[in-house]
Amino acid sequence: MKTLADLLAEGVSGRRVLVRADLNVPLDGETITDDGRVRASLPTIQQLTGAGARVVIAAHLGRPKGEPDPKFSLKPVAKRLGELLGKDVKLAADVTGESAKGTVESLADGDVALLENIRFDARETSKDEAERGALADELAQFADAFVSDGFGVVHRKQASVFDVAKRLPHYAGGLVLAEVEVLHKLTEDTERPYVVVLGGAKVSDKLGVIANLLTKVDRLLIGGGMAYTFLKAQGHEVGQSLLQEDQLDQVRGFLEDAEKRGVELLLPVDVLAATEFGPDAPHEVVAATEIPADRQGLDIGPKTRELFASRLSDAATVFWNGPMGVFEFEAFSGGTRAVAQALVDSKAFSVVGGGDSAAAVRQLGLPEDGFSHISTGGGASLEFLEGKDLPGVQVLED
Ligand code: 3PG
Repeated sequence: MKTLADLLAEGVSGRRVLVRADLNVPLDGETITDDGRVRASLPTIQQLTGAGARVVIAAHLGRPKGEPDPKFSLKPVAKRLGELLGKDVKLAADVTGESAKGTVESLADGDVALLENIRFDARETSKDEAERGALADELAQFADAFVSDGFGVVHRKQASVFDVAKRLPHYAGGLVLAEVEVLHKLTEDTERPYVVVLGGAKVSDKLGVIANLLTKVDRLLIGGGMAYTFLKAQGHEVGQSLLQEDQLDQVRGFLEDAEKRGVELLLPVDVLAATEFGPDAPHEVVAATEIPADRQGLDIGPKTRELFASRLSDAATVFWNGPMGVFEFEAFSGGTRAVAQALVDSKAFSVVGGGDSAAAVRQLGLPEDGFSHISTGGGASLEFLEGKDLPGVQVLED
């Protein structure tokens, strides 16, 4: 696989380089609430501009429906990227149309252009290879080389991730390389005890990864909304808590498999049971096996926090994906904070897997350097751990 270092060694001064970045950040209106992915994208861009390249960035934001939608414009991202780079980032008004062509033409050495949300073009996510190929052809016209640096999206076989690499000399960016190296440590010769903490709302999003992790880990700690489906599968009532009835059989299978394999699978022993879903909802601590019929669990309780922290304290390797509760509400952020703090306190090689858990670490004010690695990829890191091939990485190997 050729890398950014190879491209820089070839020389990029005056050359146009297309960079696929993952700038998919959470927004509140036009305000970016967590700019972690923008910051993680800086080193590759800076190395290219520093060497005199004309950088054209392709990126997506959210899941627009294949047509322009102002709600999903990359405008706030262009502004933030410009602030962090300390230079103007020219945002094209379209993906590969007249505005994009003009913007790319106008670049001087060391300049940066950002194409408008690549998913405003329905061909980006098309299942039809010819359609994706047509968009990739247009993107390829904008550059002499392609640097893949959007780790968070490498699990997607999309035009700007996969097909364009087949049309241009391609290189793995620094972020993609760093992320893949860390994830290899979680799948090969992993130091033990190896503990995984999973949370988040839906167990259905994590079926593949749970099945695969049960063959690899020593302990699996489960919190967040998905824990209630496990509690129900054990025969407990969960009141109004999140429940995926259609996953109960699958989850029973996981419980049996864990027992057979000697994997310690831990569920909450107590929860904060609230009368409704909201930041100020009245709530009390109840045993996880005694959630009242009219209450919903919105966070793990104090005994569970202690239990999880103790089962993390002697870990040599930890992977954590998914919050333990509704951390966006202060009253229900304690469980997520406790797990994050346990990772900070441990000597383990600790990896936070993207998405909400990475945002939680930053929003709760925990020191980012307290973790060995905070991944920018939620779905991408889970698919890697599930043992799936990542098309956006595989294509770079050709
Ligand atoms: C993410 O947020 O995980 C990545 O940016 C990929 O986004 P997607 O799930 O909409 O493809």
